[in-house]
Amino acid sequence: MQAKHNKTWKHKHLIDVDDLSIQDCSLVFQLANKYEKALKNKKSISPILKNSNIFNLFFEPSTRTRASFELAGKLLGANVINITSEISSVQKGESLEDTIKTVSAMHSDIIILRHQDSGAATFASMNTNTSIINAGDGSHAHPTQALTDAYTIRKRFKSLKNINVTMVGDIEHSRVARSDIWMLTKLGANLTICGPASLIPKSFHKAQNSKLPHVQVQTNLKKALTDADVIIALRMQTERQKKKSIPSLSEYAKRYQITKTNLQVAKKNCLLMHPGPKNEGVEISREVANSSLSKIEEQVANGVAIRMSLLQLIYTNSGK
Ligand code: CP
Repeated sequence: MQAKHNKTWKHKHLIDVDDLSIQDCSLVFQLANKYEKALKNKKSISPILKNSNIFNLFFEPSTRTRASFELAGKLLGANVINITSEISSVQKGESLEDTIKTVSAMHSDIIILRHQDSGAATFASMNTNTSIINAGDGSHAHPTQALTDAYTIRKRFKSLKNINVTMVGDIEHSRVARSDIWMLTKLGANLTICGPASLIPKSFHKAQNSKLPHVQVQTNLKKALTDADVIIALRMQTERQKKKSIPSLSEYAKRYQITKTNLQVAKKNCLLMHPGPKNEGVEISREVANSSLSKIEEQVANGVAIRMSLLQLIYTNSGK
């Protein structure tokens, strides 16, 4: 079945969520909801991407994002080709620009790119006519994770308006934090970001800030968790920390780990989320990660539906 051109969705690429309007987000969620139900009920899914070629180009490790894009593409009938830096000609000195041009020449319709450098997805989109989806670039952005997180919260609360979300961890180096901050506040959430001052970007300290009226900065975990509806724990991004920002992981864990005791001040039945990969015993206790409050595995499941939705919208917009 040939996909119909989607008149509402205007985006050829997805580089970050700040390109999206509230209507765009609603469209992504609506379609994801349809796919989530189809997956749950083992309903047949129309092969809207039949004969399309999707390249999963991953220069950094990934479990969730890569596998869910592969599954999403295959469920929609696409040919999915996986390339990682270890098996690519990057090992022989090929540049990102050349790799993108090479993959584009193979009749690619969508390139899904994860890269260690912030700005890599934008750079790629400037060097190809193929649609680029950013699957995480350095500490810049992770739009499909932000849409997954917003979708997961929305499922519980119906809307993000006035929902108190507390994000705890290495905000400075986290691309999920950057995309989530934009996404969740755009959809109406009140956001508190919490962690050691050295792991919160300076611009946020200044910006108890008119530009981000719905973002509060808090270095005290107990205050940050008080009355939270949703808690998002973030991993220490040690691979991106150029200098030592905390004395040690165990010192960090003592002050900032999400534990059952710390959660007592949050709202009863709050949602506990984590984009993964998680380090139990550092940013989150094993007990909490495996408790009934945890939505961590649901986030993973929702990520498949969200990526199916995005693949359809982007492929359809390319007029194919
Ligand atoms: N959340 C996330 O990006 O996880 P992966 O690194 O496993 O893809």
